[in-house]
Amino acid sequence: MAIQLKSPAEIAKLRAVNLIVADVLDALEAAARPGLSTWDLNEIAAQRLKHHKADSAFLGYHGYPAVLCTSVNEVVVHGIPRKDVVLKEGDILSIDFGAFKDGWCGDSARTIPIGTVKPEATALMNATREALERGIAACVPGNRLGDIGHAVQSYAESNGYSVVRQFVGHGIGRAMHEEPHVPNYGDAGKGRRLSAGLVVAIEPMVNAGGPDVVVKEDGWTAITRDGSLSAHFEHSVAITDAGPVVLSRI
Ligand code: MF3
Ligand code: CO
Repeated sequence: MAIQLKSPAEIAKLRAVNLIVADVLDALEAAARPGLSTWDLNEIAAQRLKHHKADSAFLGYHGYPAVLCTSVNEVVVHGIPRKDVVLKEGDILSIDFGAFKDGWCGDSARTIPIGTVKPEATALMNATREALERGIAACVPGNRLGDIGHAVQSYAESNGYSVVRQFVGHGIGRAMHEEPHVPNYGDAGKGRRLSAGLVVAIEPMVNAGGPDVVVKEDGWTAITRDGSLSAHFEHSVAITDAGPVVLSRI
């Protein structure tokens, strides 16, 4: 299907569901602590989703078994919440959450420290968060898709990190994954032109070591090939004539 540009009224619907997503992520961030399992976090997310009368975007998606992705340390993305994955002091945890409300989808992720973490873990999280901000700043009409990827990649790599290639961001709207693919790498000035009404989920996955990722036997859990730490941040962003509007930020 071709790219679907959204009207201001449709962007308002996307804003509403992304505010729910942000609220759930805030609740998870407040709850996460050593001793809690990633399954406990899934249950908190499921409960809050119900409170908002919204539906999970992840549960059942290609058979995915939870409402949340919980990716600890060398897990890049798509970690499945489990009772036997118990958070411990020093971990970094990516929480990725998506929801539907009134037929519109929101999607966002953030990586958080569990207790006190090593300085290198903090530096990786900060650089990944900032790489996402650079990508968001490139979301202006007239720019090209490659400008987003280039902004993310050049910032991450200039800090000595690598960006994952196997997974990319995406358009978002009535479906979680719409055209176009939004890579976290690319060439400035290349690719399709960005126009007002395009809504994208930008989601850099940044590794402390090499860029390669392998998927475990469960078919979901993606880990760094070299076992290095990985961080992941995601926002749903509307490109408008007034510039980028981050829908998933309260
Ligand atoms: N934010 C991820 C994405 O955009 C989450 C999908 S996880 C899945 O692809 F469980 F839904 F697959
Ligand atoms: Co996404």
